[in-house]
Amino acid sequence: MNAPGARRPLVSGNWKMHLDHLEAIHAARDLGLRLQPADVAAVDVSVHPPFTDIRSVQSVLEGEGVPVALGAQNCAIEDAGAFTGEVSPTMLARLHVEYVLVGHSERRQLFGETDEVVAAKVSAVLRNGMTPVCCVGETIDEREVGLAQERLASQVGAAVAAVPRASVASLVVAYEPVWAIGTGQAATAGDAQEACAWIRDTVRSAAGSEAADGVRIQYGGSVTPDNTEELVRCPDVDGVLVGGASLDAAAFVEIVRAATRAVR
Ligand code: 13P
Repeated sequence: MNAPGARRPLVSGNWKMHLDHLEAIHAARDLGLRLQPADVAAVDVSVHPPFTDIRSVQSVLEGEGVPVALGAQNCAIEDAGAFTGEVSPTMLARLHVEYVLVGHSERRQLFGETDEVVAAKVSAVLRNGMTPVCCVGETIDEREVGLAQERLASQVGAAVAAVPRASVASLVVAYEPVWAIGTGQAATAGDAQEACAWIRDTVRSAAGSEAADGVRIQYGGSVTPDNTEELVRCPDVDGVLVGGASLDAAAFVEIVRAATRAVR
């Protein structure tokens, strides 16, 4: 049996390549004005702006005491060096970034990130004292031919193998079925629970029960204020990774509140 009560849900907003730094300042302030202490009493919240916004958003979150952790959407494998155009995980940590998305399906599909690259990035994030949010998920083709569980096991297995056993419990895994991203067609709570349980079982086989019971598993893909509560009520779903709806502060705060209702 898992211990869902022991895991604090994480609600994350992935802004993708939206909001320039001025719009981002406005969005971060808007979040600060809307979020009440009760909203963050039982759940953690993070936002993942584009790199060009991170310093600006950091200033708002810290300067105005907004109870939201700063996140990034990607990072380099190396800490420094001749890697033109890459973004150093060490430099992200210096900006007080706490969570870094790794292996988002858009990175895997559009930028050729393999399980090996993703594993190296997971390791780079941890080495720099931040928390990787390792994104995994099957395509519709894989699901239709019955390969979803196998695909998730290989993605999760590669990431977990890159992490010292003692650190596995601190990881976040985001289950984002590719067919649910940006389509308006979220997974059902039943499908999300089944996949998140497979992911936890994979972690258990690779790194033991303590790791499996500690790791937080988010669901992502067409999350809205209306479907969050049911998703987060699933015993193996420990929060949500939100794309489109996170660009609207009011909707994002409603999602945070729905996650809180699910754990109360
Ligand atoms: P949507 O919420 O827009 O479907 O995006 C999900 C996602 O990719 C978050 O990382």
